[in-house]
Amino acid sequence: MIPIIQPLFGPEEQAAVAAVLRSGWVVQGPRVEAFESDLAAIGGAEYAVAVSSGTAGLHLSLLAANVHPGDDVIVPSLSFIATANAAWMAGARPVFADVAPDLPNVTPDSVDRVWTPQTRAVIAVHQLGVPFDRQEMRRLCHDRGAVLIEDAACALGSLHKGEAIAADAEFAVFSFHPRKVITTGEGGAILTNNPEHAERLRRLRNHGMSIAADQRHAGGKREQYLEPAWNFRMTDIQAAIGGEQLRKLGEIVERRRLLATRYEELLATCYEVAPLQPRADDHWNVQTYCVCVAPGQGEPAARRDEVLRRLNEQGIGARRGILAAHLEPAWHDLLRDPLPYTEAWAAQSLALPLFHGMTDDDQQQVAGALVEALQQVP
Ligand SMILES: Cc1ncc(COP(=O)(O)O)c(C=O)c1O
Repeated sequence: MIPIIQPLFGPEEQAAVAAVLRSGWVVQGPRVEAFESDLAAIGGAEYAVAVSSGTAGLHLSLLAANVHPGDDVIVPSLSFIATANAAWMAGARPVFADVAPDLPNVTPDSVDRVWTPQTRAVIAVHQLGVPFDRQEMRRLCHDRGAVLIEDAACALGSLHKGEAIAADAEFAVFSFHPRKVITTGEGGAILTNNPEHAERLRRLRNHGMSIAADQRHAGGKREQYLEPAWNFRMTDIQAAIGGEQLRKLGEIVERRRLLATRYEELLATCYEVAPLQPRADDHWNVQTYCVCVAPGQGEPAARRDEVLRRLNEQGIGARRGILAAHLEPAWHDLLRDPLPYTEAWAAQSLALPLFHGMTDDDQQQVAGALVEALQQVP
């Protein structure tokens, strides 16, 4: 079996977890605080607020942005389902914007086209770690009086025009699910440069409590519950793993970029797949290596699906690339404009295995099986 991804864990993570267990303090505490400060530095933001998942991070960002029931939130349909669901979690309505033909990201034009009088926020996704144009999107949201929330779930370690992904961000949300470049098992974080947002996010993740959990347990201070809220805390066990993973981030991203170059070489003469090509001035973390499969004569996704089935049959853990929320039962009935590029990406994109320990042989096997499947499936 060649998996789609495999976390890079070593003795460092094991020792860090063992130290937390020995300390006896396993819920949110000093390790979360240390993880947050390391993450803020790497992400290029003033503040980081760790949470239980990227989804929780999107949800809390919308609440901190004062999105309320009755508001609209513009999101790409082309994303993991959590992006659309986050709008619903805040009681708002997701409004789907199309993506670009050449990149799986929404653009200022596509967002502008679906703007409604109720639009209060935009969640734009750095899809598969490929940055969208942050300056242009910020300008549009600023001019229209809406909040920009960056779904950077996949984008830790990517640079946009030489800058870290959360530089100057109002809200940039990261995920540490094992499909991402680094992982804490489950986990997420919101990076912000606004101290009031940071304070509100800390409160919202912890039952609306006026002080942090470790201060409360240390005694001496009595907490107040300032507003109804959630338990979206990250544990110190997760944060200890995350701290070690962050130290490996540079090495992991370099390796992923190298493996992506190798795939490009192996598939250079296979004209029936087109690799995802980020802008030349962006540094892509290659969170997912994705190709678009030329469609066949049948249903738009039929050829990609059959190729995928054949790869999986041979133990190659390829996956369909990016889903379109509006094609899933959960969001099928939502009124929307046509989304032609979204549907093309959803039908043709195919994610190939890519992990730190992947060998030349593994890559040759994947590329060989892909070329063979394409020859056999018209
Ligand atoms: C674009 C995007 N947004 C949000 C999420 C949700 O993150 P999590 O799984 O940590 O809740 C994911 C992935 O899992 C994602 O890929």
